[in-house]
Amino acid sequence: MLKPFTNQSPCLPQDPGWDDGFGFGYRELDAFWLARWTQESGWEAGRLYEQQGASLELSLAANVLHYGQAIFEGLKAHRTREDKIVLFRAIDNARRMRASAARLVMPPLPVDDFVTAVHSVVRANHKWVPGYQKGSFYLRPVMIGTGQVLGVAPAQEYLFYVFGCPAGQYMGGSRVIVLSAAHRAAPYGTGAAKTAGNYAGCLRPQKIAKEMGYVDALYLDARDDFYIEELSGANFFAILHDGTLVTPELGSILPGITRDSVLTVARELFGWLTVERRLSIEEVLSDAVEAFYVGTAAVLSPVTTINYRGIDYPIADGEPGPRAERLLQALTAIRLQEQPDHWDWVKEITI
Ligand SMILES: Cc1ncc(COP(=O)(O)O)c(C=O)c1O
Repeated sequence: MLKPFTNQSPCLPQDPGWDDGFGFGYRELDAFWLARWTQESGWEAGRLYEQQGASLELSLAANVLHYGQAIFEGLKAHRTREDKIVLFRAIDNARRMRASAARLVMPPLPVDDFVTAVHSVVRANHKWVPGYQKGSFYLRPVMIGTGQVLGVAPAQEYLFYVFGCPAGQYMGGSRVIVLSAAHRAAPYGTGAAKTAGNYAGCLRPQKIAKEMGYVDALYLDARDDFYIEELSGANFFAILHDGTLVTPELGSILPGITRDSVLTVARELFGWLTVERRLSIEEVLSDAVEAFYVGTAAVLSPVTTINYRGIDYPIADGEPGPRAERLLQALTAIRLQEQPDHWDWVKEITI
């Protein structure tokens, strides 16, 4: 049973743990957003509900539970030095969720509805947004097929919901491994959609990578097993000897919003040559002077070692490089309104 949120009883504890740093885990806050879709009415307007003790009731035959109609997003709000709360590129997450919905034959949510939902969740839980430079407020919009099915078919009912969590560091770690016989996505598959099944498929490679002492698997393409794609939850970049910033072309990888931000900042702010193309593992091992991975949760982390066919290869001298650091600083400053945002990426949330 869901109770509409009335803003009467914010449940922030005396000490939410701001100074201990947050990990990256679920926590029940004050309010979350939920909207339903039915074939007769389309998307309803949606509203906030109390989050304490809230859960969803689903039919045993809900599509999501066996055929996996589930897509999601991840985006962050931050508190600035001036104590404003700002959100980064929410419109782009809204657009990507529409693209994921189209791939999974789900009803695309209007961009404005998505933006209203994430703004409302931040506003209702604003006390949970960590202080300046103490972390971020991570938002998780989710859409699932709740209608009952038995044969393989799209659901006739859907839910869209958004919850948030104060968050600290997500991945952190600079050693990645190319596992043999482990691919994330196939050509013309669902790799470019942010759908739950892609992540379920990554759990085993990720577990093996971690057990072997690496932060994650670095996936190669499924056709040639030679071209770098991405990590389980982050996009990959390399800087080559000639100074070019290269990242794998779109296709079966997630079109990351941080990936796009990095390309834009590198090209338009720093004047670097940026290229999206096929990037082989051997080219990176022989020609990269820096490598790093990027994502909303992961932010930007250097890759200093890549294990390929059982051998640890250092990238250049095996130390984090200056250009990745420069990109990280620029992105952080833009997100916190400490450097001009020429692209209108950052939106203030009025409380
Ligand atoms: C598979 C995968 N690649 C890349 C990314 C990075 O995307 P974004 O920068 O939009 O967070 C993510 C998500 O965070 C992801 O799950």
